[in-house]
Amino acid sequence: FGQRIIVLDSTVSTQQDAMSLAEEGAPEGTVVLAEEQTAGRGRQGRKWYSPRGKGIWMSIILRPTQPLAFTPQLTLLTGVAVCRAIRRLTGVEAGIKWPNDLLIHGRKVSGILLESATEDQRVRYCIAGIGIDVNLNVEDYPEELSHVGTSLKIEAGFEIDRTTLIAVVLEEMEQLSKLYAEQGFQPIAMLWEALSVTMNRSVRAHTGQGVAVEGTAVGLDPSGALMIETDLGERIQVISGDIQL
Ligand code: BTN
Repeated sequence: FGQRIIVLDSTVSTQQDAMSLAEEGAPEGTVVLAEEQTAGRGRQGRKWYSPRGKGIWMSIILRPTQPLAFTPQLTLLTGVAVCRAIRRLTGVEAGIKWPNDLLIHGRKVSGILLESATEDQRVRYCIAGIGIDVNLNVEDYPEELSHVGTSLKIEAGFEIDRTTLIAVVLEEMEQLSKLYAEQGFQPIAMLWEALSVTMNRSVRAHTGQGVAVEGTAVGLDPSGALMIETDLGERIQVISGDIQL
């Protein structure tokens, strides 16, 4: 990971740039970074605020060999990598909210967007988009984010060197991908569960069919879906969407 890193001053979205590179055949681990994004994308059609020089806005090309059904596992792997990197470098105990929001003191510090290009059920490539609010100050947040977002600088109390954090994230991605290739999803799921703030909490979620369910988060199933146990003892699989803690 990071053998080839493309650094842009300003771009619309690094997801777009990484996709074009992947289409041209760029190998797994190719990274696109930008100082600022003018239309950063979040999950579920949301915008991602990406101010100049204050964060890490990057996209990594992945070329998985498994079918599409396994891609949620890559989302979780990426979340574990970023969470471990943040903890290693800042000592701040970030936690993962399913599927892959990273929270510190209940506020979001990082988000991950995994997008896949497919062809006849086969995954051609995935783009793992990582946004980390690194050195934003309280006054850098627009009104609508001021109560939900936070930065590593705000939480740790000191400036974080972005280049070092990028290197540590890529190192974690590489190590975890190796573990995943050798031992499958089980060890990744264990790491995820240990870093998760969702586990054993009461959550409200929407299933793949859009049905609202409530229950206690009891763990990940082998595909990477979140398992929720209702008051009636029924186990329900949550594949996509957001949860409320
Ligand atoms: C989310 O929490 O909704 C996911 C946010 C993902 C943001 C990153 S920043 C780099 C990459 N480029 C984008 O446009 N989005 C992702």
